[in-house]
Amino acid sequence: MTQSTSVTLTSKDSKTLCELPVLSGTTGPDVLDVQSLYKQTGMFTYDPGFTSTASCRSAITYIDGEAGVLLYRGYPIEQLAEKCTFLEVCYLLLEGELPDHQQLQAFERNITLHTMVHDQLNNFFKGFRRDAHPMAIMVGVVGALSAFYHDALDIRSKCDRQMTAIRLLAKVPTIVAMCHKYSTGTPFMYPKNKLSYVENFMRMMLATPCEEFEPNPVLVKALDRILILHADHEQNASTSTVRLAGSSGANPFACITAGIACLWGAAHGGANEAVLNMLEEIQDVSRIGIYIDKAKDKSDPFRLMGFGHRVYKNHDPRAKLMRETCHQVLTELGLCDDKMFKLALELERIALEDEYFIEKKLYPNVDFYSGIVLHALGIPSKMFTAIFAMGRTVGWISHWDEMIADPEQKIGRPRQLYTGAARRDVPAIHGNAV
Ligand code: SDX
Repeated sequence: MTQSTSVTLTSKDSKTLCELPVLSGTTGPDVLDVQSLYKQTGMFTYDPGFTSTASCRSAITYIDGEAGVLLYRGYPIEQLAEKCTFLEVCYLLLEGELPDHQQLQAFERNITLHTMVHDQLNNFFKGFRRDAHPMAIMVGVVGALSAFYHDALDIRSKCDRQMTAIRLLAKVPTIVAMCHKYSTGTPFMYPKNKLSYVENFMRMMLATPCEEFEPNPVLVKALDRILILHADHEQNASTSTVRLAGSSGANPFACITAGIACLWGAAHGGANEAVLNMLEEIQDVSRIGIYIDKAKDKSDPFRLMGFGHRVYKNHDPRAKLMRETCHQVLTELGLCDDKMFKLALELERIALEDEYFIEKKLYPNVDFYSGIVLHALGIPSKMFTAIFAMGRTVGWISHWDEMIADPEQKIGRPRQLYTGAARRDVPAIHGNAV
């Protein structure tokens, strides 16, 4: 990070208010360093939703929303999705470089040996209704991990942070699968160490003790790619939540739980489930026009789920890769005529030709096709956001770790523009309270 120049702030009557440094990173927009603004001018910046605010410096992920570019540690998402496994990408995000063969083997083995959860954690599930939303259970159970794994919670210890990263990467898939099994009333499946990360998850999620699990390599590769596409995405809402929670010194399990809670929202990670519900509501291509009109009607709260993005004002590169994966999975399963997929393709075609979507630069995002793939893989729509959380856990941990190690790090404490009542006295009538 270097200071490239500075900006002088002057009042309407040309009085110099302050001079602010302009900082440059490796690539992307420069930033105006406003840390001294309040001290120099007595004013705050005002930016609801942080549309023009950089909350931190980071070396993990870079997005160029205008060009539709996504890089994890400098590598294009298209190349990572094509050439790497999810665990290689996890290593890359956590350590900053792709692992060599030996490093990858050790990393995979370490994760494999931590996939079981403390057996008492099973008792937590008994307290939930069978029809509880899996994300509600995830918030409860992942949050409880700090009650079981408190032997390595010294956040200033790199070794403890690495241990917690391994535990979370290893145990979140087991917990996600347990959420699904609990909702169906079928027994929890214990991890099998001879299986790969995704094979293990698919077995815990979809198999029963009654039959041997035979992983379909095409479907395993598809889910592995889906996790890569969800692994990280810069300072999105849930990652910013993890960073803010971590800035107070809260333990990493609690911080990741805060991220899970934030991801659940339909405007964020909950969109994949909302897309499938929307497609089921539209039902037929003949009804697409009705929903396009609803999405354009300002008096109607309906939005086209899976469309639009705060950063991408061009195609979300993940959506294109997800559409390809969708086609591969449906072909493998002989579902090329899948009604939902055809409906989604037609909805995308119509929306992308519509003036409203063109003018507002609304393109399909990562959530538009992911639901169709997950549905084809036999995963119920209520589980979609939990799968998103499983992929994003590595991004959350990487940002949490980067924030803890950042010498500039301090507790996050934004200010406000106060618009409430000015100081006033309690009226006499209330003076008689005893
Ligand atoms: C994710 O941040 C990330 O990186 C998130 C994510 C990640 O990997 O972490 O990429 C994952 O959350 C993807 C987004 C999933 N959400 C959805 O698909 C829900 C539907 N999309 C929208 O709710 C919306 O597009 C957001 C929330 C994604 C982005 O909202 P913004 O940036 O705040 O944009 P906005 O609401 O200001 O919209 C700009 C305009 C508005 O119209 P005007 O007020 O200018 O007239 O576009 C309109 C909006 O009404 N608009 C839509 C729309 N999205 C935006 N109109 C219809 N349908 C939509 N989907």
